[in-house]
Amino acid sequence: MNYESFFQMSFEPFANIPDTRFFFETNQHKMALLRLMHAADKMRGFALLVGDVGTGKTTVARKLLAYLTRSPKFQTGLIVLTHENFSDEWLFTRIGQIIGLKDTTNLMKDPMNILTKQLINLDREGKKTVILIDEANKLSDSRIVEQIRGFLNLELNDRRIITFILIGVPELERHILQNESLQQRIAARTYLKSLSRDETFGYIKYRLSVVGANISSIFTPDSVDLIHSYSNGRPRLINTICDNALLEAAFLQRVPVDSMMIEEVSESLGLKKQQFGNFKREL
Ligand SMILES: Nc1ncnc2c1ncn2[C@@H]1O[C@H](COP(=O)(O)OP(=O)(O)OP(=O)(O)O)[C@@H](O)[C@H]1O
Ligand SMILES: [Mg+2]
Repeated sequence: MNYESFFQMSFEPFANIPDTRFFFETNQHKMALLRLMHAADKMRGFALLVGDVGTGKTTVARKLLAYLTRSPKFQTGLIVLTHENFSDEWLFTRIGQIIGLKDTTNLMKDPMNILTKQLINLDREGKKTVILIDEANKLSDSRIVEQIRGFLNLELNDRRIITFILIGVPELERHILQNESLQQRIAARTYLKSLSRDETFGYIKYRLSVVGANISSIFTPDSVDLIHSYSNGRPRLINTICDNALLEAAFLQRVPVDSMMIEEVSESLGLKKQQFGNFKREL
């Protein structure tokens, strides 16, 4: 069943994907984006975007990537670390592809040298190379962390020729802190926290407005309070609760969504137990 037609929405408002059409600029998301854009533009070398699970790090990273890709002065790309056991070869090859190396087959014979030459070529063309690494908390291998530090030593006439932006949950900082030399090179750091009650309201209102709907006819103020409380202000959980509540409301033809419905939905998602059990599950 699809609730969009019931609510006369043009498309799904609460899908859990980092869709830039829905980007809601809270102060902290805006600030994060600004700081990272600045770090990229000034080629600061090394910047971090850290935050708790589901607070919007990947969404900000995608927005940043879209901005950098649009500008011809950047050579950029996003690497997502899906697991911890990746090899140097895999990482070097991904960096090589992003910086436009045509042939990466012989890269591992002398990776730093080959990549550096290409970075210098890009610098001569006036391009700033910015590599984004999402899920960088999976960079647990100190050897690979050291290789990233190695890149940061590359400078040409006092100009850096590569900037890394690492994105991840707080564990990322623990890995970085182990490498003092890398830690000292952090030129910008931004931390995403959960949304406040007002930001949660604004977030839901904005998403509904994008699909042509009005919050006051869909959620009662009390229901928004509860959504904030059960989600802890984490956007991913806000989406999940709202999505389930809209489905329920359309099925029961009961509008607006009230606090009782949010209680039921949160219970069925297992969020109520967590609140009282001091244990948080991430959906
Ligand atoms: N500022 C925002 N505007 C609109 N939607 C957002 C925003 N922040 C987060 N979201 C939504 O919340 C969901 C979770 O966000 P995202 O995947 O960016 O979180 P994350 O911090 O990268 O999570 P994880 O720690 O699991 O990697 C996204 O799918 C997106 O739909
Ligand atoms: Mg993410």
